[in-house]
Amino acid sequence: MSTVPDKVDLIVAPTPLHRLPSLSQELGIDLWIKRDDLTGFALGGNKGRKLEFLIADAIKQGADVVVGMGASQSNFLRQLAGACAKYGLKSAAAVMGLPYYAAAGRPKIGYEPDSTGGNILIDELFGMDVRLYPDGDWDQLEEYAEALAAEYEDKGMKVYQIPIGGSSVLGAYSFYLAAQEVMQQSPEPFDVIVTASSSGSTHSGLAYAFHGSPTKVIGISADPDPDDVLQHDVHELTVGLGELLENPKNIQFDDLDLRMDYFGDGYSIPSKEGDQAILKVARSEGILLDPTYSGKAFAGLLDMVTKGEVKGRVLFWHTGGAVTLFATPKELLLQKNG
Ligand SMILES: Cc1ncc(COP(=O)(O)O)c(C=O)c1O
Repeated sequence: MSTVPDKVDLIVAPTPLHRLPSLSQELGIDLWIKRDDLTGFALGGNKGRKLEFLIADAIKQGADVVVGMGASQSNFLRQLAGACAKYGLKSAAAVMGLPYYAAAGRPKIGYEPDSTGGNILIDELFGMDVRLYPDGDWDQLEEYAEALAAEYEDKGMKVYQIPIGGSSVLGAYSFYLAAQEVMQQSPEPFDVIVTASSSGSTHSGLAYAFHGSPTKVIGISADPDPDDVLQHDVHELTVGLGELLENPKNIQFDDLDLRMDYFGDGYSIPSKEGDQAILKVARSEGILLDPTYSGKAFAGLLDMVTKGEVKGRVLFWHTGGAVTLFATPKELLLQKNG
C-alpha cells in the first residue's frame, strides 16, 4: 500500500472473540462470536471501525460538518454523531422512519417506526442536527441529504458527505483490518463466518481478507436488493480495496456469498425468525441482538445449520444494533414469540 490511511481513535480493539457454549451444544457446531457489539464507543457496533478512517478523512479534508442519511433507527448515525462530537465536528443527517425501495413500495410494518427513542434520541443527545422527513424511497432521502449539505454550504461551512452506512473503500479497509484481528485471536481458522450485510463494507472487507483461505464468508442481507445492487456494491468495494492495498485479488461477482433469504418483509421490518433468533441468543447466552440486522443474520445462520450448509467451526460476527430494541414494541418481540 503506497499510503496508509489516516485514522482517529474511537473504538476499543481487539473486540472479544469467544465461544458460545450453550448454542454450540444445541446446534452441534463449534460456534464462536466476534463481539463488535462491544466496540466500546457510543454504545458499540460495527460502524465504529469504519468511522475511525472516515472521520480522519473528514478532518484531513478540512470539514466543519459531516452530513449523513439513514433510517431514524440507524446505528451508523448514532456512532457518527458520537464520533463528530469527539472530534469537534458538527454532524447533521436526513432521516426517515422507514425508507424503502421505490420499486417495492412502502412495506407494511404493523406499527409506526419510533422516531423519538432508541438511536435517534442518542443522535440528538450527541448534538446531531437530525431532520426527520415523511417516509419515502431511498432516492428521495438522498435528495434531502443533498439539500441539507447545500444548506450548510450556504452558511459557508465545509461539508463532508459521508456514504450511507460508512460504506466506502475506507470502511471496507477497516474490516480488512478487523479480519487480521480475528486471525491473530484465533490461529485455528474458521470454516464459516456469518455477518449481517446492508451497505456492504463489513461484508466486502471480510470477503476480501479471507478470499483464497479455507474460511467462507457469508453475508446475510438486511434489505431486499432489487437488481443485485448490494451484491454489486460489495463487489466494487472488494475491487477498490484491492487497489488501496495494491493487491488486487480478482474476486468475481459470483465469488461473493450474499444471502437474500432472511430480510423478511423488508429493511427495518422485524421478521418472525429474526425475533425468535433474538430470544434464543438472549436466553441461552445472555447476548442481545437487534431486529433489523443481527437478529435476521442469526436467523440465517440457524437456518443454514439446519440445512447442513453451515457446519464445523463457525463464527457469527455480531455487528451490534441492540439500541433498536429500545425502539421496538414489546408485544412484537415478546408476546408474539416468547
Ligand atoms: C447493527 C448493524 N449490523 C450490520 C450492519 C450492516 O453493515 P454494513 O452496512 O457494513 O453492510 C449495520 C449497518 O448498516 C448495522 O447497524
